[in-house]
Amino acid sequence: MKYKGIIFDLDGVLCQTDEYHYQAWKQLADRLQIPFDREQNNSLRGVSRMESLNIILANGIRQYSEAEKKMFAAEKNDLYCKQLARMTPDDMPDDVKETLIALRCSGYKLAVGSSSKNAPTIINHLGIASFFDAIVDGNCITRSKPDPEIFLKAAKLLQLNPSDCLVVEDAASGVQAAHAGGFDCAVIGNTARDTSAKWNIIHLNELLSIINR
Ligand code: BG6
Ligand code: MG
Repeated sequence: MKYKGIIFDLDGVLCQTDEYHYQAWKQLADRLQIPFDREQNNSLRGVSRMESLNIILANGIRQYSEAEKKMFAAEKNDLYCKQLARMTPDDMPDDVKETLIALRCSGYKLAVGSSSKNAPTIINHLGIASFFDAIVDGNCITRSKPDPEIFLKAAKLLQLNPSDCLVVEDAASGVQAAHAGGFDCAVIGNTARDTSAKWNIIHLNELLSIINR
């Protein structure tokens, strides 16, 4: 096998919570009368909550105090968590579940490497914790993607070298983090397609045919 471990980003890779992030940011930006669209949202993929907020607020005309920023971040997170509360195992796309099962059956070690502090809640609602040998999330790191800290921690917990692991990402910041850490990267979806990545795929189950090439 070319790899011994696969490290998955969560939002936008294993589930469609990337859409919930967009909707929550959009609602906040609209209330503050700051322009914000899906294209701008794509550049926030993989970026921490406070960094994302600062990027959005930079498009407004006002300066905000740290106390206001804290309130806005909490407001966005409350909107986002309302969506998460409705999630069930049925929100797990079939091809994702099939892929995780097949990878485990083939003997790969699996991990999650997500910038989100809500990752444990999502994993719990989807009922997918048992698929993973390690979960590293936004609560465990000091530097967000594009820093490689998150993936290096995940590889360490898997007791594997970066060169033995493949990172699966939907975010430009995540692809950069993977490469900075010495990992190969498969980019999923259309928002961060990258010629420097090992693979660009549309559906997760494509991994099953490409990783042994
Ligand atoms: C990443 C998302 O996974 O987590 C970002 O791609 C998000 O959009 C970041 O900002 C932090 O998420 P949370 O849930 O801690 O606000
Ligand atoms: Mg993502």
